[in-house]
Amino acid sequence: MKNCFQNGEIWPDDHGVHINAHGGGMLWHEGAYYWFGEHKVAGEAGNVAKVGVQVYSSRDLYNWKDEGIALAVSDDPQSPMVCGCILERPKVLFNARTRKFVMWFHLEPKDNGYAGSLSGVAVADKVCGPYQFLRAFRPNAGVWPMNAPGAERNVLDETELARLAAMDLNGGPRPFYPKHRLFRRDFAGGQMARDMALFLDDDGTAYHIYASEGNGTLHLSQLTEDFLAPAGKYIRIFPGRFHEAPTIMKWGGKYYLITSDCTGWAPNTARISAAENIFGPWEELGNPCLGPGDQVANTFNSQGTFILPVNGKKDAFIFMADRWNERDAIDGRYVWLPVEFHHGVPMISWHGQWDLSVFDKQA
Ligand code: GAL
Repeated sequence: MKNCFQNGEIWPDDHGVHINAHGGGMLWHEGAYYWFGEHKVAGEAGNVAKVGVQVYSSRDLYNWKDEGIALAVSDDPQSPMVCGCILERPKVLFNARTRKFVMWFHLEPKDNGYAGSLSGVAVADKVCGPYQFLRAFRPNAGVWPMNAPGAERNVLDETELARLAAMDLNGGPRPFYPKHRLFRRDFAGGQMARDMALFLDDDGTAYHIYASEGNGTLHLSQLTEDFLAPAGKYIRIFPGRFHEAPTIMKWGGKYYLITSDCTGWAPNTARISAAENIFGPWEELGNPCLGPGDQVANTFNSQGTFILPVNGKKDAFIFMADRWNERDAIDGRYVWLPVEFHHGVPMISWHGQWDLSVFDKQA
């Protein structure tokens, strides 16, 4: 039995196999935690989805039972989630109204790189699945962002669309990022959606947060009451700041986003942002990491994926992150760190090995 977290080490499941749930998310449901993540195979081949979303369960967060594949990729070549697609950052919520488990994920149809930028939705009657794939789409087609000024609420003409199409927007050149135009380009067909998180607020309202507009701008989008679709209310956050890997928590009535910069599998400097109202305004507060410069510059050699509120403990949150291994995807490691509060701001420092008693000391 394990009784602590050993960051960056092999994390064996109940079969002694390293946990295979990368870019994961957590759901606490009826006394247990369920960890959903990307199942990856060995080698560079593991950077595309060959199997699907794997799920593990635990009552103590240290010891994990393999519950198998929650959502399987398809063997139908016509399916947007055919084996060989890219399926990243799955997150699951339980909908108390419909009693269904709803999974959202970032989906890229096979052999088209990251151009598709789709959101996938799947649903299940039982927490571990099997999840049934419903659809994949670009969210918020035909809807203007709530915080877009009137002057920007118009579609672009052919000349401008052609000019944008000719620009290489893959991570840059950032100084020329067209920060007032991409959401207008994508108005009719729906907004690009890559790295993502889900958030369930205290009032039962759920939100989808995704890196949009060529990864340069985050969107925060309310979901319908059944959590299966966008509700038609969304905002743009930090246009042109290239926030990826969104993770979100609520503490002391305020919302906090911890995100990364945009450098692919390579780790970079995290950022924390805060808002009193989930629909903004959002304010960037800087780097949440504390410690030696080289460690805080690359988020302890990791990139965030989820912030877990620890059940039954006050002010206890775990920042969950991935240490990706692009050359051998299955060997990606996990870094989980306790969120500390310094002068009313959530911060993170390095703990090579730790256990949940840190939260009792903090209280
Ligand atoms: C990262 C992103 C990952 C994955 C990767 C691909 O920035 O957070 O989820 O998409 O890029 O290069």
